[in-house]
Amino acid sequence: MSTASEIYSPGLEGVVAGETAISTVAEGLSYRGYPVPELAEKCSFEEVAFLLLHGELPTARQLAEFNSRIGVARRLPEPLRDLLESLPRWSLPMDVLRTAVSILAHFDQDASDNSHAANVRKAERLLAQIPLAVVDYHRFSQGQQPVPARSDLSTAANFLYMLRGTEASPEDVKALDVSLILYAEHEFNASTFTARVICSTESDLHSSVVGATGALTGRLHGGANEKVMDLLEATGGPEPAEAWLRDALSRKERIMGFGHRVYKTGDVRAGILKTYAQAAARRAGQEKWEETAEIFERIIAEEKNLHPNLDWPAGRLFHAMGLEVPLYTPIFVMSRITGWSAHVIEQLDKNRLIRPRARYIGPERRPVKPLAERRE
Ligand SMILES: CC(C)(COP(=O)(O)OP(=O)(O)OC[C@H]1O[C@@H](n2cnc3c(N)ncnc32)[C@H](O)[C@@H]1OP(=O)(O)O)[C@@H](O)C(=O)NCCC(=O)NCCS
Repeated sequence: MSTASEIYSPGLEGVVAGETAISTVAEGLSYRGYPVPELAEKCSFEEVAFLLLHGELPTARQLAEFNSRIGVARRLPEPLRDLLESLPRWSLPMDVLRTAVSILAHFDQDASDNSHAANVRKAERLLAQIPLAVVDYHRFSQGQQPVPARSDLSTAANFLYMLRGTEASPEDVKALDVSLILYAEHEFNASTFTARVICSTESDLHSSVVGATGALTGRLHGGANEKVMDLLEATGGPEPAEAWLRDALSRKERIMGFGHRVYKTGDVRAGILKTYAQAAARRAGQEKWEETAEIFERIIAEEKNLHPNLDWPAGRLFHAMGLEVPLYTPIFVMSRITGWSAHVIEQLDKNRLIRPRARYIGPERRPVKPLAERRE
């Protein structure tokens, strides 16, 4: 038996659990060395997806070929479409997506091939297929038929087109595109670490993504963006917001969209997306939620020294764009599939089984009593 070091950190806080060349939060978040604010300003989501999956930003030719592969892969197998139509309308979209990824594995000719090249091919296909599964189920659950995907549109533009049946405004497409860039990758967060643990057993990419999707669903992780508007709406608006919030904080309620395990002085991504949330709220005539959000930011900083994370502006932005709340965490998956896949590929390129030790806090060693001697 190998000896376990006695260093123990609840929730693995501060523990370095592996190496990665994909992103770092040191000196501000960067993907493969590029500062994320610069990527959000100068690149499309597809360029960032290529960077994460292939290691470098694409040339114009590489980007055109990548977009063409994604466009061609925008199809769902018929049996999955039929299943999406037959699932209960009250199913949670994240649960549906988890099931959809699992089913997609059965139709992927590379499913059990764990080579680097096959994993990149599978990742590109999932990048194309996940938005379709999200939007097709959403339309079925609303009693509508799916809108066929378009191969000439970006991920953001095609998603909004399939959702609404008409092309979205350039402002909406840009705002969603920037959200996808900001959500794409974040080092060893809970869902990415889940994906790495799963593939470290030499399991496959789809299994890793199914597990990661489950991890992202929780409200302490991706699920937080779906709770933001519930909170803002519960206040009743800017007037009663301060009293409502002080009361919630005095009851030790957790305010979704605030706080972070790693960022203790603020999340640069939240600042970037806030500008888009404010602009979208102005276009939609919904400034009152932005005013309410400002009140939250001020009071939570004062009272708890906590700052917004990316989910805080994302929930507001998606709401101002008229997107329905159960789509918010699935949008996160549409983007994070790139980061998850990059990590699975990196893990498998230099794999070592992830198997930590536990500190035992159970009963002392004791003999097993025969059944007849055990008392109620
Ligand atoms: C993200 C999160 C899980 C990180 O938490 P963590 O590093 O484990 O920190 P802890 O849960 O130990 O919290 C430390 C303290 O801050 C408080 N706190 C942390 N986040 C808080 C929040 N969003 N609202 C109110 N209080 C919060 C905790 O109650 C705790 O206070 P205490 O010491 O008085 O008990 C946490 O900040 C949170 O729950 N945020 C809301 C969910 C969210 O937005 N998730 C998306 C993350 S990107």
